[in-house]
Amino acid sequence: MKHLFKQGVDGKAPTLLLLHGTGGTEHDLLPLAEMISPTSSVLSVRGKVLENGMPRFFRRLSAGVFDEEDLILRTKELNGFLDEAAERYGFDRRGVVAVGYSNGANIAASLLFHHQDALRGAILHHPMVPRRGVKLPDLPELPVFISAGSNDPICPPGEVEELESLLSGAGASVTVHWERYGHQLTQTEVEAAAVWFQHHL
Ligand code: MLT
Repeated sequence: MKHLFKQGVDGKAPTLLLLHGTGGTEHDLLPLAEMISPTSSVLSVRGKVLENGMPRFFRRLSAGVFDEEDLILRTKELNGFLDEAAERYGFDRRGVVAVGYSNGANIAASLLFHHQDALRGAILHHPMVPRRGVKLPDLPELPVFISAGSNDPICPPGEVEELESLLSGAGASVTVHWERYGHQLTQTEVEAAAVWFQHHL
């Protein structure tokens, strides 16, 4: 997978896995990594699926309707890529914390839904429920931060609350941060994620 890796100065800090939104690249979320954990190594991946030329992490059939088969396949592929990257770059595979926005948050949530021990924690900015009707792996005390907008038409509050309850039901320790805005990623929600990270990871 197309990606960039930046070695951090603190080998014990979690490695941040950056996952951009639709139409983004592996460069988009680098400023977030600086704010959240400046001493961490960073693995930032570009989604392989192209929608009208815009990179994404999995196909969708229409706005908000995911291609489940592709989602499952791409999630497995990303999980396998994390195994390979940990070997290649020498970071702790069990210390990966995802930081995703929108489509990137959705594939990060899908990693949690489908693969036990894929992540040590996750920061999900404006996520949706990746899949319904499946049993999640046990996620005992897994730290998850969700930020959402009460006026987000793409990830409406009900969807975010459902995701929170599914993750909590699997044992994860979920913190939800609400903003009054829409789908955009705000400075204040990233600051809140950084404070949360200091306390939980
Ligand atoms: C998705 O397709 O993952 C979500 O609708 C978010 C987006 O990319 O617009």
